[in-house]
Amino acid sequence: MIKILFIGDIVGKAGRETLAHFLPSLKEEHDFDLVIANGENVTHGRGLNKRHYLELMNLGVDVITLGNHFDDREELRSYIEKYDNIARPLNLIANYPGKGSVVVTTKKGDKVRVTNILGQAFMKEVITSPLLALKLVNLDSEPMIHIVDYHAEATAEKMTIAWEFDGTISALLGTHTHVQTVDARLLHKGTAYISDVGMTGAYDGVIGAERNSVIQKVWFDKKSPFNYDNEDVNYQFSAVILEIDKETFKTKKITPIYKLWTKYEQ
Ligand SMILES: [Fe+2]
Ligand SMILES: [Fe+2]
Repeated sequence: MIKILFIGDIVGKAGRETLAHFLPSLKEEHDFDLVIANGENVTHGRGLNKRHYLELMNLGVDVITLGNHFDDREELRSYIEKYDNIARPLNLIANYPGKGSVVVTTKKGDKVRVTNILGQAFMKEVITSPLLALKLVNLDSEPMIHIVDYHAEATAEKMTIAWEFDGTISALLGTHTHVQTVDARLLHKGTAYISDVGMTGAYDGVIGAERNSVIQKVWFDKKSPFNYDNEDVNYQFSAVILEIDKETFKTKKITPIYKLWTKYEQ
């Protein structure tokens, strides 16, 4: 059995601190074969610079997926191809460096494919069909464990993709909404599913951003920016644990994790 931890969108400094707080003890408890994290919001809420990429590696993350914020730090273009463990969105029309589907080897020598795909509904990015993009990856790939981070707004869209690929991928994990859903389950042919893994970061904000800045932007001034300097002391960690059969590549168990933490607790 292969045990994989997948951590939902890590947002800003609060997210990095929360990762540092929870990951070492979780790793000790579970002895994961692989730790995957969505890193599209790691650098001040937008994108992933190289310093923070290395910080996540130091904290024990093995593979990083991204999302619609992939290019918010253009620095990514300069270093993504130096590493083989960053998956940016697969179905971009633009010619962007790096890969949307990467294969990594666990410490025990098992191969795992990790794919990052952008969804269509309510998303602004110009993309190719997520369904076709994933079919092509499956056609090209030798059989192995395959974890798909489907980065999208609409739960129904995520479900249609998950059912269409049931039995042909090990897990279809939704990200992007930053709110963990309670629908984690196994589909009929062994694909694990959750509509959204949720967010790792500030608990008292709005999906990771400081709440007053979001209220200001949404209701009073569309041009005012989101602020990610949360003064709050409460944090959340959102993830799922997958237990996958290494012979069949099917998932036997998906366990959601949602933990709260108060930074200055005595
Ligand atoms: Fe995000
Ligand atoms: Fe996103």
